[in-house]
Order: sequence, then structure tokens, then C-alpha cells
Amino acid sequence: MSAAEIGISDMAGPDMARVIEIEKLSFSHKWSLNDFISELLHPESICKTARPVDGIGITIGYICVRRMVDEAHILKLAVHPAFRQRQVGSLLVRHIKDEVLRDFKGKVILEVRVSNIAAIRLYNSLGFKSLYIRRRYYAEPEEDAVVMALDFK
Ligand SMILES: CC(C)(COP(=O)(O)OP(=O)(O)OC[C@H]1O[C@@H](n2cnc3c(N)ncnc32)[C@H](O)[C@@H]1OP(=O)(O)O)[C@@H](O)C(=O)NCCC(=O)NCCS
Repeated sequence: MSAAEIGISDMAGPDMARVIEIEKLSFSHKWSLNDFISELLHPESICKTARPVDGIGITIGYICVRRMVDEAHILKLAVHPAFRQRQVGSLLVRHIKDEVLRDFKGKVILEVRVSNIAAIRLYNSLGFKSLYIRRRYYAEPEEDAVVMALDFK
């Protein structure tokens, strides 16, 4: 799907049922509705959703980022399984990188499971570099994380 076929907007109440559905399909350690609400209420939080512009308007993916002074942290990125490998994840990260953080001068950081080849490739394709391994960062199942970063300086 191209950028012209996908609309990106702020995550809001009407997205939440679908966001929780995608979350359940995407992660073994899931955020609850309360986790998303707490994130949305956080002053430094940026959460965006993607939906096809000519479809029935359903949410098909989302991203949550926390922006701090010189660092922004990607906390969540997921695409509904039926819409994966159609550039939706890339569009969401690109939107954060090129639009939301356009004037940002710091680093964008994230952790990803070492086995999550799809996400690691996606981030690599957008210029993120692997920095180091964080041992046993994840539970359910226990796994190491790769810490990846994109430097805007
Ligand atoms: C990771 C995820 C968000 C990718 O979203 P997506 O919309 O399918 O990704 P895109 O179509 O934009 O793919 C961009 C690049 O990522 C890589 N990629 C994506 N899916 C892949 C897969 N299944 N296998 C290998 N590489 C893959 C490719 O390099 C791809 O580039 P290409 O299309 O030129 O081959 C999606 O698989 C997902 O929701 N996974 C579950 C949740 C998750 O792991 N989130 C990341 C946590 S850090």
C-alpha cells in the first residue's frame, strides 16, 4: 500500500477496540486498554493509527512513541496480520521520523526481540542501527532484546 492509500491520524477512542484486537494478535506480552489510556494521557506521548483511505475506515496499525528532550522511544508498533508486508509498518515509522519528529535533534530508540526478524529488517531499512543486546529484557517468553537507534543529529 502506498502513502496515498493510507491515512494516519492521532489514536483516539473509536480506534481502541481495533487496537486491542491487533495488540492481542501481535504480542505475547500485551498492553491492556488501561495501558493504552495511560500512554495516551502521558504528556510526552505520541500515538498514531493507520487506516486505508478508501476502505471501510478500520484501523489496521498503530505506533506509540514517547518524546523526551533528546531521545524519543518507540514503545509500540503493530500492524493487523491481514495487512502485513504491505508497507503499513514502514509508513507509520516514516510518519514519526519525517513528520512528527521533523525538527528533532536527538535519537530515536527502541527495543525489539532478537527473533523478530520482520521488525529488525523494517527498522534497518529506515536507517536504524543495532546498538547492543539487552539480556533477558522480555518475558513471556524470556528473550534478549536488540536495542536499535536512529540518530537525527
Ligand atoms: C513488524 C511489523 C510491524 C511490520 O509491519 P509491516 O507492515 O508488515 O512491515 P512493512 O510491510 O512495512 O515491511 C517493511 C520491511 O520490513 C521487512 N519485513 C516486514 N515483514 C517481514 C517478514 N515477515 N519477514 C521478513 N522481513 C519482513 C522487510 O524488509 C520489508 O521491506 P520489503 O517490503 O521491501 O521487503 C509487523 O510484522 C507486526 O505487527 N508484527 C507484530 C508486532 C511486532 O513485532 N512489532 C514490532 C515490535 S518492536
